[in-house]
Amino acid sequence: MDRYLVFGHPVRHSKSPFIHTLFARQTQQELEYGLAEPAVDEFAQALRTFFDQGGKGCNVTVPFKEQAFTLVDRLSPRAKRAGAVNTIKLTDDGVLLGDNTDGAGLVADLKSHGVTLADSRILLLGAGGAARGALAPLLAELPSELVIANRTHAKAQQLAAEFCDLGPVTAQTYEQLAGPFDLVINSTSASLQGELPPLAPALIHTDIAIYDMMYGTSDTAFISWAKQHGARQTMDGLGMLVEQAAEAFTVWRGIRPGTKQVLRELKRNLGVI
Ligand code: ATR
Repeated sequence: MDRYLVFGHPVRHSKSPFIHTLFARQTQQELEYGLAEPAVDEFAQALRTFFDQGGKGCNVTVPFKEQAFTLVDRLSPRAKRAGAVNTIKLTDDGVLLGDNTDGAGLVADLKSHGVTLADSRILLLGAGGAARGALAPLLAELPSELVIANRTHAKAQQLAAEFCDLGPVTAQTYEQLAGPFDLVINSTSASLQGELPPLAPALIHTDIAIYDMMYGTSDTAFISWAKQHGARQTMDGLGMLVEQAAEAFTVWRGIRPGTKQVLRELKRNLGVI
């Protein structure tokens, strides 16, 4: 049977095996999908061993995405832009192809929630790996403006300079931000420490869409905060997780699984509904 897995550290709580097993059942693909948690300095060896032993493809998550970028034979254009690899496929001619499906997953999830990206003003919070992966797919949707704000302003400036050939992207400090924005995407890891990005509450209005790439069994700190200040449409990263997985599955198997039912089952599994 074709073998796939996700590399991460820690990875025990990953929902990828659950999601891909449902995709395989739905599309009647014969495959198995497991977990691998190599020590941080043993990822390269573990990856080699997996493919030497017949593995067909894998996902890569924190903290290995940047390292995976350097270990594959070939990169997709979107992985090259993201500077990180979250999906690897062994091609029929034995080439390890590195791809990045995170940004496509974000855009697909935003669209499935009915968020309009064309001609919109988007505010992207954070300038780390998650922001970098999102920029090209977001700019491909032709927003009228995309502003990056980051605690360390120089990193936002660097990202904006790197992507400005793809669309109207600029960097502003949190203090400089002037609304109205149509969509705010939180790519920071602030929620992990129960913290909030230092965004002025005045930027939140009733028609704004709020997206937090993080998710949990209850509202993230950022979503709670945005709701408190009047946001009515809030979305967390669970849908992005399922959509990036669907995109990876499509890369591997050449068949696109449906995501709605799988997202529902995942929410049930997490006890969210
Ligand atoms: P990821 O790969 O998830 O993007 P990362 O590359 O470590 O992770 O980036 C984390 C991002 O969250 C960074 O933009 C970071 O800001 P700095 O560049 O200033 O470090 C941002 N971040 C983390 N904690 C934050 C907080 N409490 N408030 C605001 N931004 C925060």
